[in-house]
Order: sequence, then structure tokens, then C-alpha cells
Amino acid sequence: MSMSEGIDWTALQSAAIAIMHKAYAPYSHFKVGVAGLMDDGRIVTGCNVENASYGLTLCAECGMVSSIHATGGGLLTAVACVDQHGNALMPCGRCRQLLWEHGSPTTQIMTPEGVLTLPDILPQAFGPADLQSRAEDAHA
Ligand code: THU
Repeated sequence: MSMSEGIDWTALQSAAIAIMHKAYAPYSHFKVGVAGLMDDGRIVTGCNVENASYGLTLCAECGMVSSIHATGGGLLTAVACVDQHGNALMPCGRCRQLLWEHGSPTTQIMTPEGVLTLPDILPQAFGPADLQSRAEDAHA
């Protein structure tokens, strides 16, 4: 039995490809699209948005995370991130952290190596629980 059973990866990848075509990437010409399946079943998407001040570039995942909150929040069940050819793309390091904040240890990620979990691609992640435990220490 596959871990990713029950997830319509074709639909998720198609949604990622559709939004990838809307990317604003005039500097790198590297268009990225991402689609997330939320725990309530809705699909939320994002594309990268670059800037003349290159370092201000927003990755596709940033747009998706903003849209998650704009459309009701929730947690990511599965994520498909694609390049301009529609092929699976590994989320960058910073974006793995973004996904962690809005996912769970069982969130599935479509990668060039197959379907992996969020902890597979971001082991020993720093997250909200670390802040909480240290805050309790500070107030002990
Ligand atoms: N990019 C993303 O949108 N997400 C990633 O996870 C990797 C990189 C974008 C940023 C930039 O616009 C382009 O890809 C090239 O780095």
C-alpha cells in the first residue's frame, strides 16, 4: 500500500501546472507553480513572483501560503511543486520551512525522487513547538 494512496496527484500536478503559467519570472525565466491539497479537501495554489530587486523574489510557495490563509486556513495534506516543464521540483530550503508551518509530519510532497513526507525533506525541523517550549522555560 502506497503512503500516497487516496491523493489525486494528477489533479494536484495539473493545478500546479496551471498556476505555473501565471508566474511572473522575467529575470530568471524559471517559472514555478505549486498546489496544495488542504485537510478540508480544497486545492490552494501559488506561483513565483520576481522583482527588479532580485532578492525580493517571492517563491511560489509564498503565494500559496498567503492564499491558504486568505481562503480559510487549514493544514496541507499534500503538495505538488512544478517547474516550467510541469516536472516535480524540490521546494527550496526556506519554503520547506514555510510548508512545515502549514503542514504536519504526514504531509506528502511530490518530489523528483517520488512521494516523500515533509519530515523526509526537512528533518529535525524548527517549528512552533520549539518557540513554545523555550517560552515556558523563560517564564519558569
Ligand atoms: N522558486 C520557487 O518559486 N520555489 C522554490 O521552491 C524554488 C525556487 C523560484 C524563485 C525564483 O523566481 C526562481 O524559482 C529561480 O530561483
